[in-house]
Amino acid sequence: LYYETDYGVNMKINKPHIKVTKNGPYAVTGNVPLTEQHIVSDNAGTALEMEVTYEYPPMESYLLCRCGKSKNFPFCDGNHIESHFNGTETSKKEFSGFKYTGKTLVLYDDEDICASARFCHVSDGTWQLAREADDEESRREAIECAGNCIAGRLVIEDKETGEVFEPHYEPSIAIVQDPAANVSSAIWVRGGIPIESADGELYEVRNRVTLCRCGRSRNKPFCDSMHSVVKFRDDQ
Ligand code: FES
Repeated sequence: LYYETDYGVNMKINKPHIKVTKNGPYAVTGNVPLTEQHIVSDNAGTALEMEVTYEYPPMESYLLCRCGKSKNFPFCDGNHIESHFNGTETSKKEFSGFKYTGKTLVLYDDEDICASARFCHVSDGTWQLAREADDEESRREAIECAGNCIAGRLVIEDKETGEVFEPHYEPSIAIVQDPAANVSSAIWVRGGIPIESADGELYEVRNRVTLCRCGRSRNKPFCDSMHSVVKFRDDQ
C-alpha cells in the first residue's frame, strides 16, 4: 500500500508530516494543502496581510525544494545532487525566545528564526504593543500582531494565567513570495505539522514556522532571513 522514494521516506503516511531528507528536499506527506501566498505590504514595507495567489491541486504527497536550485519550483527536481547541496541541520529542536514582560502580556522572541516578513513592524512594533497593552483593545492588537508573525519568532501569552494566544490554522503549507522586497521567501508551515530531521528526531511541533527554501539559511531547516540577503528569486 505504500512505496518508498529515493530518500527512504514512506510517502503514503496519511497524517500530515514533513521529513527533512539528508541534503535533499522536504518530503511532505498526508495530503497537506499547498498554496502560494504573497506578503502584501504598505508603501513603507510593513506587512499587512498574506494573500493567496495560487492553490495547487490536492496532492497526497510531494517533495519541496530546499536547496534553492530547482528549475521546477517549488518542487524538487534533483538539482541538489548536481549542486552538492549541504543541507546539514543546525537548528535547535525547541523554541526558546527572549522574554519581554509587559503590563498584562508576556512576549517571547526567538530572533534565530526570523523570516523578515515584517508583520511586527506595525505601529511602534509588536514589542512595544506587548509591553504597554493593558486594556481589551490594546491587548487584542498586541496578540494579533504577535500571531501574524509567520515564522513563529514571536509568541505571546497572558502574564497572569500563562495562556498562549495562537491564531487557528489547519495543517497547510504556503510558498511565500515577498514582492515588496523583490525576493522569494520561505515555506510557511501551519497547523502543527510534525517536522522530522534527517536523523529522525522531531522538532518541537508548532502552529507556525518557516522552513528555508533558498538553501542559504545558517539555521537549517528553518529560515533565518538569508533569502533577503542573497536576494533569492525562485523564477531565475
Ligand atoms: S528561505 Fe529564508 S533563509 Fe532560506
